[in-house]
Amino acid sequence: MTVSNVHTQVQVLEEEFTNALANVKNASELESLRIQYLGRKGCISKLFKKLEILTIEDRKPSGRDINHLKQKVQTALRESKTIITREDESKPFVDLTLPGNQWSIGRYHPVTTVLRQIKSTFERMGFLVVQGLEVETEYYNFEALNIPKGHPARDMHDTLFVGDEIVLRTHTSPVQVRIMESQPPPVRIISPGRCYRRDTPDATHSPVFHQVEGLCVDEGVTFADLKGVILTFAKNMLGSDVKIRFRPSFFPFTEPSAEYDFSCIICHGKGCKVCKGTGWVEISGAGMVNPEVYKYVDYDGEKVTGYAFGMGVERIAMLIYEVHDIRLFYENDVRFLYQF
Ligand code: PHE
Repeated sequence: MTVSNVHTQVQVLEEEFTNALANVKNASELESLRIQYLGRKGCISKLFKKLEILTIEDRKPSGRDINHLKQKVQTALRESKTIITREDESKPFVDLTLPGNQWSIGRYHPVTTVLRQIKSTFERMGFLVVQGLEVETEYYNFEALNIPKGHPARDMHDTLFVGDEIVLRTHTSPVQVRIMESQPPPVRIISPGRCYRRDTPDATHSPVFHQVEGLCVDEGVTFADLKGVILTFAKNMLGSDVKIRFRPSFFPFTEPSAEYDFSCIICHGKGCKVCKGTGWVEISGAGMVNPEVYKYVDYDGEKVTGYAFGMGVERIAMLIYEVHDIRLFYENDVRFLYQF
């Protein structure tokens, strides 16, 4: 071991240190480098130890040589530390002990679920599902359904107008006209969708609601077919205990007309909030297609007969899920929606 040996080793160490420092990426790597060079068992300490085997005269210059390296390393480390700490602080702090983000899984809205059940029930009975329009002309929403301008039946439909003779449909019945216009008999369709009325919201009214329209026209179709279809539907949706009842009513586009109810499957007639204590829940209107309507669509009213029915989707959903206020379906309160 000589002075020049030590000098070479110092040079090698210095070069290695400079390279290593250039590759340091964060504070912990910098700390490892510090320990590697300046630690008690680090390479600079080791080099100092080697001085012991030098002659007394050689120790001084070599010692100075190593001290020089030590200072350089210390300064370089200090400078790098300030830069790296500053960079680390500007990065967002990640606390790995925090619990992970919880993702909530979506689900169907109860009205959507009921609509899907209604559709598949009618499909199994041979009905075709067709789509109507939410923005309609007064012609399809009223006129062609035998509700001319000034007819008192228009009062029942608090209509939202979006333009001259353009309305947000107040019921799904315009689909009857559109579908008969587009094809000759026989017809057997249902058409679900949103409807709009300028109603003040309360427990049973919402300005937006869903209906399903049903229409069946062919030779020899009777009111008994209508009752059979509604009863089969009700039993499929609500269970075999459910009863149906028809009450005489009036709609300009059906003759004779009825309103029909399902027995309350929640209280079984004892009286509850959903059936308002009556034991029955009103579903919608129905009847035999008025021959006046056939005139608008070029059907031969002498040859064919047909029935039509409406269906309040929310009313059925209220029965199935025991919901006594229709507004709950539209408030989008997750505490309500997560129950389904
Ligand atoms: N469209 C009527 C309503 O909304 C219901 C109905 C449909 C009545 C079909 C008869 C036939 O009130």
